[in-house]
Amino acid sequence: MNKSMLGVMLLPILVVAGLVRTPVADAEAVAEQTSAIEPFRFNVISTNPVEHGERLSAVLGCIGCHTPDLTGEDWSDPELGVLWTANLTHSAAAFSRHELAVMISEGKRPDRALMDMPSYLFSELHPEDLAALVDYLKTLPVDGAQHPEPTIGPALAEDIASGEFKDSAQWVAEMKDQAPPDLGPDHAFARFILRATCAECHGMNLQGSTEQLTDAPPRPSLRIVGAYSAEEFSTLMKTGKAKGGRDLNLMGGVSRWRYSRFTEQEVKAIYDYLVEMARQAP
Ligand code: HEC
Ligand code: HEC
Repeated sequence: MNKSMLGVMLLPILVVAGLVRTPVADAEAVAEQTSAIEPFRFNVISTNPVEHGERLSAVLGCIGCHTPDLTGEDWSDPELGVLWTANLTHSAAAFSRHELAVMISEGKRPDRALMDMPSYLFSELHPEDLAALVDYLKTLPVDGAQHPEPTIGPALAEDIASGEFKDSAQWVAEMKDQAPPDLGPDHAFARFILRATCAECHGMNLQGSTEQLTDAPPRPSLRIVGAYSAEEFSTLMKTGKAKGGRDLNLMGGVSRWRYSRFTEQEVKAIYDYLVEMARQAP
């Protein structure tokens, strides 16, 4: 499959999937941000952990890369090699709760390294949220095919030989102490959410990036939210429509699939954080 052939408007989810060969991090700018992040819980709107875990699977984008029914898809590339996002319905049956939690949050599979699973985003999840995600995965009936194991194509072999390639566990170690700017205790909850849900594309420092990623238009600095009213921001998160009623490409789909599942309190916390960030460092 050639991911660059896919239209962003038609297949936002597949496009999201194409983004992760390189996590977005401006090493220099991020270097100052070394304070570790506290584990917060996402809002718990259902006392049933399975329902809570299902909401997290949307908000955290598992349903993007692993597809909405979590059966996975083909990311293979002639240069990089065979790679499928795992069929999580099979993984949930094959691995223990503990093994699943370690794969998600540490990027470590018992028998081999994981590639391009962005566990560095999930390394700071609260243990109870991680457990709820695993509870949800464990309810999935085994569905669809078991996918082939990854192979190493010529371009990936070069990256491995030059030391440029990092597996999922190495990314966790690399990004462990990096987080969006620390704006104090009032904004700590939002800082935690932003690290897990926005930093993947807008960078750990939330300064955006023009770095070329498959099919992704440049991602602006989230300081742009300083120009949004609370209502406009809430509309963006719920419907994917930007200020002024503009349709967005990738971001439109990401909002509708993932961020429409945020609670109002989560959206407000993110908004307050981003407005404060824009005020302090426009
Ligand atoms: C940006 C894309 C992306 C996102 C987001 C993502 N994954 Fe993955 N995940 C992958 C890829 C790619 C693999 C396959 C890695 C491999 O086989 O080396 C994978 C592998 C896994 C595995 C290992 C399964 C196995 O049988 O080997 C688990 C478990 C997993 N993901 C769970 C999750 C969960 C839960 C979420 C959401 C919290 C999530 N993933 C979000 C891309 C993603
Ligand atoms: C999968 C990648 C991805 C993720 C994750 C992501 N964004 Fe974006 N975002 C984009 C891209 C790409 C654009 C540029 C607009 C477009 O889609 O063409 C954008 C644009 C924006 C804009 C600018 C809208 C405007 O006025 O033009 C805002 C605000 C924004 N994102 C907020 C967020 C927030 C908040 C999060 C986390 C809750 C987030 N984004 C997560 C990719 C992403």
